[in-house]
Amino acid sequence: MEKKNCLILALDVTDRENALRIANEVSEYVDSIKVGYPLVLGEGLGIVKELAELAPVIADFKVADIPNTDRLICEHVFNAGADAIITHGFTGRDSLDSCVKVAEEYDRDVYVVTEMSHPGGVEFFRPVAETIAQMAADAGATGVVAPATRPERVRDIRKIIGDDLHIISPGVGAQGGSAADVINAGADWVIVGRSIYNSNSPADAAMKICNEMKC
Ligand code: C5P
Repeated sequence: MEKKNCLILALDVTDRENALRIANEVSEYVDSIKVGYPLVLGEGLGIVKELAELAPVIADFKVADIPNTDRLICEHVFNAGADAIITHGFTGRDSLDSCVKVAEEYDRDVYVVTEMSHPGGVEFFRPVAETIAQMAADAGATGVVAPATRPERVRDIRKIIGDDLHIISPGVGAQGGSAADVINAGADWVIVGRSIYNSNSPADAAMKICNEMKC
């Protein structure tokens, strides 16, 4: 994904009309649109192709299965027009390798979750976050997902993965994280959902975050 605004929209609305309206309004401010289960379960995987006409789509399916199932999921998602997929890493290196292999075949990107941004994200993830980050680097993933709610953890993870991998970081706004703080800590992009799509003016909200980051 090309870095212009350092902002990824998390489009967790559940209906097509709202999704396309918001995506159109903010497309000039975002480098990518992240879609996940809420929108795809609401409207079907076909929504990916429609959104991909506005911005590259990251499919946030937090893939977490055996290698063969992961392969099938990645193939479906890339065939649907997604530019990237988010996978879990705790399922192990063989599962991640399977996703990276499909991504290479399709020339697409894979981001691996290292530690989640909500309070419960520290319960099980914290002790293994660094190991997962190292595995993502070793496996040739494009980047990792690290929490904007804990910029110090983004800094820790950046030390492990070096400068070759990207960090995309959710948790800004509704979950309490600051966009400027997490970019300063080493994230490449912030991922923002509710603070934009629940705003009366999604474009103004997105522009404000861009201005704050001065990316
Ligand atoms: O609405 P909000 O800005 O909190 O949305 C954050 C988005 O990032 C949601 O789509 C959520 O599922 C996702 N996410 C997250 N923490 C992670 C990975 C993904 O909040 N570790």
